[in-house]
Amino acid sequence: MKTLRIPHLNGIVTIKCGENIVGEELKKLSLDHSLLIITDETIANLYAHTISDIPTIIVPEGEKAKDIETYSMVIQEMLKRQVDKNVVLIALGGGSISDLTGFVANSYKRGLRFVNVPTTLLSQIDASIGGKNALNIQSLKNQIGTIYQPKEIIIDSSFLKTLPQKQFNSGMAEAIKYALLFDEALLEKIENQTFNQNDLIFRCVELKAQISSYDEFDSHKRKVLNFGHTVGHVLESLSKFTLTHGEAIAWGMLWEINSSLRPRLKKVLSKYSLLPDISFTLEEILSQIKSDKKIESENITLAKIPKVGKYELVKQTIETWQKELAHEHLW
Ligand SMILES: NC(=O)c1ccc[n+]([C@@H]2O[C@H](COP(=O)([O-])OP(=O)(O)OC[C@H]3O[C@@H](n4cnc5c(N)ncnc54)[C@H](O)[C@@H]3O)[C@@H](O)[C@H]2O)c1
Repeated sequence: MKTLRIPHLNGIVTIKCGENIVGEELKKLSLDHSLLIITDETIANLYAHTISDIPTIIVPEGEKAKDIETYSMVIQEMLKRQVDKNVVLIALGGGSISDLTGFVANSYKRGLRFVNVPTTLLSQIDASIGGKNALNIQSLKNQIGTIYQPKEIIIDSSFLKTLPQKQFNSGMAEAIKYALLFDEALLEKIENQTFNQNDLIFRCVELKAQISSYDEFDSHKRKVLNFGHTVGHVLESLSKFTLTHGEAIAWGMLWEINSSLRPRLKKVLSKYSLLPDISFTLEEILSQIKSDKKIESENITLAKIPKVGKYELVKQTIETWQKELAHEHLW
């Protein structure tokens, strides 16, 4: 098992990475704390032996976990069960579950501790780390949320054995993002499909943990991790969440990259079946982008990537960006 201790404003977050570690780690936690698991039905059924006798709240799967109605149901259920401030919440699931649980933990009785146990590739390498949580309003992504760090993150790659291929590929979109921004050697391994899964997870975890510790509140360096997400979130909404998060940000990265790397990026994304057919118009996308939280007074921050491992954050007006995109045939 590899352990990272990542400093944040209000303390240290411990990240444990390994294979078949979750049972033992949950047992250790339950010695000192009362635990309450938040998960969805698929995971609860697949991992009934892991949950065993820990109290559990089951929520709907995918983006439905991030509805206000689900949030309200969880809070009411916790009140009914008289959950007090000593209880530690366990987010057992993908990014939807950790986004919901983080917000519940931060808001219930002004704050409970929580632990992320990510079960998708995407949440293991990205969503479980950095403390961002979020709820959606109707079909608008992540309009409510805070930055609130988990006490611990337990990353067990054995969960990925049951993960459907489409969901695995969705996580590969975030891995491709990290490789493109920071690590040429990793990008080559992903392109040639020669990466070791545990090494890939640990490398991405290190990168996400370092960047989100250095810029916890997303004011400068961390913004680069939004590469692909401005357009991606809009595509998720427009598709009514029929696109996976990875598919949406894959298209988003192609829109936002604006450099000679675009054909190389397109090739590797296609290799992982991350570019399904879609046909939204530029107008539809831009009109929704204006309500995205990353827009500050008609400006958008984009990550320009002239070569692998190099990037520059550029503030641009939406109009300038629209003119640039008009020359591209992206779909
Ligand atoms: N907070 C952040 O920093 C951050 C970063 C990236 C993404 N996100 C959010 O994460 C969400 C996407 O998360 P996701 O891609 O992990 O998907 P998800 O949580 O929506 O899960 C996708 C599906 O996979 C199933 N599943 C999960 N683990 C499984 C396993 N081990 N075996 C079999 N099935 C399993 C779930 O039941 C669900 O049906 C989006 O809402 C996105 O906005 C948040």
